[in-house]
Amino acid sequence: YDTYSLRPKYLSEYIGQENIKERLKLAISASKIRGEQLDHVLLAGPPGLGKTTLANVIANELGANIHITSGPILEKQGDLAAILTNLESGDVLFIDEIHRMNRSVEEILYSAMEDYQIDIMIGKGPAARSIRVELQPFTLIGATTRSGLLTSPLRNRFGMIFEMSFYTENELKLIITRAAGLMGVTIDDESAFLIAKRSRGTPRIALRLLKRVRDLSTVRNMTHINSQIVGEVMELLKIDEYGLDEMDRKILRLIIDVYKGGPVGLKSLAASLGVTEDTIAEVYEPFLVQSGFVARTARGRIATEKAYKYFGINNYGGLFSEP
Ligand code: ADE
Repeated sequence: YDTYSLRPKYLSEYIGQENIKERLKLAISASKIRGEQLDHVLLAGPPGLGKTTLANVIANELGANIHITSGPILEKQGDLAAILTNLESGDVLFIDEIHRMNRSVEEILYSAMEDYQIDIMIGKGPAARSIRVELQPFTLIGATTRSGLLTSPLRNRFGMIFEMSFYTENELKLIITRAAGLMGVTIDDESAFLIAKRSRGTPRIALRLLKRVRDLSTVRNMTHINSQIVGEVMELLKIDEYGLDEMDRKILRLIIDVYKGGPVGLKSLAASLGVTEDTIAEVYEPFLVQSGFVARTARGRIATEKAYKYFGINNYGGLFSEP
């Protein structure tokens, strides 16, 4: 197998995100019946929830070619214009991290999305002129970690905005079991569930953990993964039963010990931990909030009573117990 073939190719194989799948199925069927181009789609959500996978699935369901690029790669208007003018009728253009596009590049997208045409400036100074280029009908799929990061003119041009949610433990269990089969190992329900519980609601993490567990089964010459093996690997990786890793625990201890439970701002946390604010906001915080260890208030992040209990600390003040 390769990593790519672990990914589902059709909506029927894609596990989870039920509401999004239903809305997509409807829109795709309708566009096929009318023979019209599928509306532009924005996929928003924390890393690892399957935005890229879903973009590929949509292109497959449409029977369309997919062109893949990302916001930060598109430095100049010409970079995006070159891609847009090369699209064939019905193609899908996937722009990952679409919120990290230059404003000037983004402006090219507006008319491309709305009217399938772009105006490009040729030359500089008094001799500069703008020429209009017609594009083939295409579907833009944008991916972003937070939909709120998009400017409103860009966000408003998407016909569908999907906020992806964390996966349930049962959905992750299905994803793990399916992937194990593709990797040529078997895994019992209990073991798949043990991995699922530690995957932070995130398929990418579930599959990463499964691969490390499979490593141990390989060196032990076993084709079946049992809970003994899972337990050993989780211990080795220092991942606890809540799916918290060392960084999560560091963040919680910092809020509790140094900031007396909070509220504390992202800036202070990032400085103390030596990581960027974005990493905390996009990688660590969503799961800590989702699982109830951290709450966000207008004045910053606070550690919840659950976080105190997790460390066996009894002096939770409960001063900021808003959800
Ligand atoms: N592999 C990764 N994400 C998946 C998903 N949502 N469904 C099925 N397989 C996956």
